[in-house]
Amino acid sequence: MVLEIDPIINLTYYHVANDVPEISPNIAVVIDVLRATTTISWALKNGADSIQVFADLDSLKESAFRWNADQRVMIGERGGKKIEGFDLGNSPLSVTKKAVYGKRLFMSTTNGTRSLEKVQHANHLFAMGLPNRRAVAEKIISLKSKNVLILGSGWEGSYSLEDSLAAGALASYLKKNYHSEVNILNDELQSALALWQIWENDILGCLKTATHGKRLTSLGDYEEDFKCCAQLDCLDIVPAQVERGVIRAS
Ligand code: MLT
Repeated sequence: MVLEIDPIINLTYYHVANDVPEISPNIAVVIDVLRATTTISWALKNGADSIQVFADLDSLKESAFRWNADQRVMIGERGGKKIEGFDLGNSPLSVTKKAVYGKRLFMSTTNGTRSLEKVQHANHLFAMGLPNRRAVAEKIISLKSKNVLILGSGWEGSYSLEDSLAAGALASYLKKNYHSEVNILNDELQSALALWQIWENDILGCLKTATHGKRLTSLGDYEEDFKCCAQLDCLDIVPAQVERGVIRAS
């Protein structure tokens, strides 16, 4: 009998897109806890057909206006605020069944969609928030792949606490649940793991402490968004890129 041993998983974390080397990783996981990847996960849970992501607003409009008006939803923010003329902002609470079921979402956000674009050459590209952390981790385990690149979205090129927290949460899950070795390849991810150990019982507190959490608080009442983004492992959705820039549930 030949015993099959699961390969070692090597995890590397980049906290901003600019640091990512020009390679095509086998697996890339993009995180934007507040709020793009949480919103993507909830939109797919609520039956959105697909989400096409754009860093650039003109390209978004060009593609969206070619789509049947009844079947499209334009969604996004700049600086945390809804984009003028768009149907929805970037709140995970706005992507209800009524708003998105069966539709293609055309989405652009300040940082999250840029990160997705940065690693769009990956063989497998997943979007992760805290609500679908376990689902994405189990998908990674099932792929039996060696190298996984985790990319946080940060804020306009700077570090963000909440994305690093989620990177740590993913690494922690893999270390606990994968039957073979999990290597943490860089200091960024070691720090993210330590962050997770400090805040895992107060995720909401961490999100509100983060700079972008404070930015949202200064813009209005985002209490329900915070609560939604702070939920852990409650969604079984794995948002996966199926063609360049287009994400579907898998
Ligand atoms: C982003 O992409 O920077 C965020 O999702 C911003 C937001 O909170 O809407």
